[in-house]
Order: sequence, then C-alpha cells, then structure tokens
Amino acid sequence: MTAPTLLTDRPAYQQLASLTPSQTQLDVTAELAADPTRAERYTATAAGLHLDYAKQRLDDSGLAGLLQLAEEADLPARAAALLAGEELNNTEGRPALHSLLRAASGSGQDERFSEVCATRERMRQWAERINSGQQRGYSGQTITDVVNIGIGGSDLGPRLVTEALHPFQGLVACHYVANVDPADLQDTLLQLDPASTLFIICSKSFRTEETLTNGLAARQWLLMAGATEAELDKHFLAITTNLAAAADFGIPEDNCLPLWDWVGGRYSVWSAVGLSCAIAVGWDHFTEFLAGAEAMDQHFISAPVGQNLPMLLSLLEIWNCNVLGAGNHVVLPYDNSLQKLPDFLQQLTMESNGKQVSAAGTQLPYQTGPVLWGSAGTMGQHSFHQLLHQGTRDCPVDFVLPLTTHTGMSAQHQRLVANCLAQSRALMVGRSEAEALDALAGRGVPLAEAERLAPHMMMPGNRSNSVITMDSLNPATLGALLALYEHRTFCSGQLWGINSFDQWGVELGKEIGAEILGELSVDGAGVGMDAATLRLMEAWRAARPKS
Ligand code: F6P
Repeated sequence: MTAPTLLTDRPAYQQLASLTPSQTQLDVTAELAADPTRAERYTATAAGLHLDYAKQRLDDSGLAGLLQLAEEADLPARAAALLAGEELNNTEGRPALHSLLRAASGSGQDERFSEVCATRERMRQWAERINSGQQRGYSGQTITDVVNIGIGGSDLGPRLVTEALHPFQGLVACHYVANVDPADLQDTLLQLDPASTLFIICSKSFRTEETLTNGLAARQWLLMAGATEAELDKHFLAITTNLAAAADFGIPEDNCLPLWDWVGGRYSVWSAVGLSCAIAVGWDHFTEFLAGAEAMDQHFISAPVGQNLPMLLSLLEIWNCNVLGAGNHVVLPYDNSLQKLPDFLQQLTMESNGKQVSAAGTQLPYQTGPVLWGSAGTMGQHSFHQLLHQGTRDCPVDFVLPLTTHTGMSAQHQRLVANCLAQSRALMVGRSEAEALDALAGRGVPLAEAERLAPHMMMPGNRSNSVITMDSLNPATLGALLALYEHRTFCSGQLWGINSFDQWGVELGKEIGAEILGELSVDGAGVGMDAATLRLMEAWRAARPKS
C-alpha cells in the first residue's frame, strides 16, 4: 500500500498545531454570549440524533481548520471507500463491511449481500422459533431463557443492545456470560432451569479460551441435569466463521449461523452475533435497529463534512486529543438503560485506534486513541465528576441524552434532564474565585474564612463537552447512535493514518496466558519465566486447596 499521510504531515493540522494558547484557551461562555448564532450553528442532526457542540473549546477559525483537515484527508472519499468494501484492513487483507450487515441493498457486493440476507432470514426464523415456543428443550419444555456465551465483540454489543432496549423485551429473557471467572457462569445458571435454557456460543473464531471454557461448562450443566448427548442440539446454537470448530464442539450445522472475516468482532452486533438481541426484543425491533444504523450510514456518505455527525465527532476528537492535548474521552449516557455504552465504546474505540504505528507500520509521532471511560449519569456526579470539574486533566465529555423516558415517570425524568444540562453547563461556566467569595459571603462566612475556602470552591470551567440528544431511545435511534460512534472511530483512524480494523495488541497476553496455564497445570518449573511471575505462580500453588 502507499504510505498513509500522517496527521502531522497535513498542512491543515500544522496550522491547527501552531495556534497560540490564546486561540485555543478561548472562553466558551464569552463566545456564546458574544455570538447569538453560535448555539444554533454548532449543531448537526441526522438519523434521529442531534449533536450540540457549542460548548467545545473551539471557535470559527478552529472549526474552519478542522473542516479543512477533513477535506485534505478526503474523509468523504474514505467513507465511500469503507462502505464500498475497499480492503482497508491492510494487515489482514480484508474490507470492513459491517455497513453491509444493515444495508437494505447490496450495492456492488451482491454475493456477500445475498449471504447476509440468507443469514438474516435464518436469524429471523430462529428468533421466531424461540419466541413462539416452538423450540423445546430435552424434556419438551419451551425455551424461556437464552444465554449468550461470548466475549469482547461477541458480548459487549448484544449485551448493550438487549439492556438498552429492555422496554421492548418479549417473553424470552436473554443473559450474557463473558468472563472465564467461573462465578460469571455460575451466578447466571443459578437463576435458570436447564430444561428451558438455550445457549448461543458466540465466537467469530471459535477459538477464544473464555468462551470455549464456559461453553463446555454449560454443556456439562445440561448433561448433569439429565439431558443426553443426543439432546444437546436442542440447547445450543453457534455464531461463528469457524463452522468446523463448532461441529467439533458438537453443534450441528443447522444450528450454526455464519459470520464472515470481513466483519470485525467489535463491529458485529448487526450480524448473527446480534441474534440474542433479536430474540430479546423480537425481529421487527431488531430490523428497526438495523434501519437506524443504515440511516446513519447514508448520512455518513452523503452529508457535507460540516453537517456530518461522525466526521464532526471525529474532528472534535482530533481537536481535543492532538491540538488541546487531552488524553482521554468521557462518555456519560443520561439514561440508565445505556449504562453499558461506555464499555461497548471502550472496545470499539480503544481496540480500533489504540495503535502506535501507521497503517504502513511506521512509528507515529503523536497521540492516537484516547482512553475512553464513563458511566451512566447521574451516578458519576457523586463520584468522579469532582475530577471533571476541578481535576488537573482535561476530560472532554460526550453527554448522551434521550429527551423522554419509557418509564412514564416524566417528573422524575425531568430531574435527570436537569442534571445532564447542569453538568454540561457547569463544566463550561465553572466558578471564578470572586464568585466563590460572593457565594460564601452570601452564606455569612467571615471574609478571612471565605478567602481561605474560595480557592477550593473555584472551578476553572471552559471544559469541553458535547451533548447528543434524541427524542427517545428506541431501536432506530440506538442503531444510529452505535453506527455514529463506529464511523467516528473510522474517521479518527483515517486522520491518524492507522488501520482501525486489526487488534494485534491483544495477542501476546493470550499466548503468555496459555504458557502460564500449561505451567500451572503440570506444576512446571516455569522455565523461561521471569522471577516476579514465578513468585506469583508460587503464591497460587500455596493458596490452592489441597486435595
Ligand atoms: O481478544 C480480542 C478479541 O479477538 C476481540 O477482537 C473479539 O471481539 C474477542 O476477542 C472475541 O473473539 P471471538 O468472537 O473470536 O471469540
């Protein structure tokens, strides 16, 4: 491949990087007061989502520079290349065609699209078979519970979607087991009846240790409960590219739904990996979820950069990370059903863009993928928001706010909305020392004491944040939201000049894990291990129960 242009080689970025502190430290509150059009202009809308970035520490010249950067990097053409199936994953020689999984038509990908459609049809049939009670377990009972066993992309997406769409939940409950810690499986199975439980072994590779270990334990649980080997196919489905390994596990072909190597694990919720969601919320809602994502895809490849939600979010990421120097990014969904959103986005963004070399393998001279973290509002307000408001680090925030609630408790929801807007505003306006002194004087605190306390009450403000709103959280807006962050991740990867679709960094730990497991299993001497690891292995041996 031709070497990608690095961010630092782009004239528009060089211009941005040379901005003086007075240009980057602008007072956003003053900007909003001085320009009555800013609040309206710094917004964009698509696919039921509304982005408000008026509180970002950015002015018109900075924004123009970012838009210029997008033009130089030809983001619209890169977006088109992604959706057209160009081989953008250059280390693994594949396209990243997750958009095809939610497409209504194949546009140039006819063979792949017909496989997608055939698999969608099989997903629909399985979802309906299970939801209608036709699928029965070894004793003839209908299936009431589905357990998705998978990890990473084979867990986080479906888990988030099922939880976020729980108001649409049907009769069959879906559970998620990911951790190789036996407590995860054990705690889940304690609530369930083997006779009415079906497992989905969800693994693109069908080689993932955690998933296979839990899958075998689930098999054992059913056998211990009285199912025969021959009856196990009533209780197991597999989602995988590796049909041979699923067959070795004992799952017949009819119970296996395919996945393809051109779908990255963290981008796979739209495929059969989402089967547990389709069962949980029903097929019609699942197709609305796909349609919401497709609406975002269409927006991504057609809207001008200045109105393009994924491109704008990505440009803001570059601004905050590379121009202003923030090393992290906070996502705060103000909706309890979205509490798994930060977990999902951690894999999406950090596994995609946590890279130190360019797509051509050269060392990068700048920061890439910031650390993403967050939790559902309002919980963080009574915890880490202290650091957001007064800490020494810059922590740019995305607030995600559905404007209505499914609960029917609109008065209580009003408090949630007020809290979200208050946090967004407080981060921006802060509180000056003089304001702190006034507040203390208003409480009757003597001047000397007020002067002592004021520095502790002062908040710098001017802390960048965006607010993404939607009328309601529903299958379509959720689909659009996840596709928005997928495309933002892609655009940032393109601007950083990296391949966002491989994840070599997770491999070494797996290899060493297998070595250590081997040593622990045979009480080996740990040849080749370092002294610190050997001590920890010894500690485990000393603590293990004696048989
Ligand atoms: O270890 C990382 C990873 O490969 C992720 O990229 C992936 O989503 C996860 O493991 C699970 O992989 P699989 O679906 O193949 O079990």
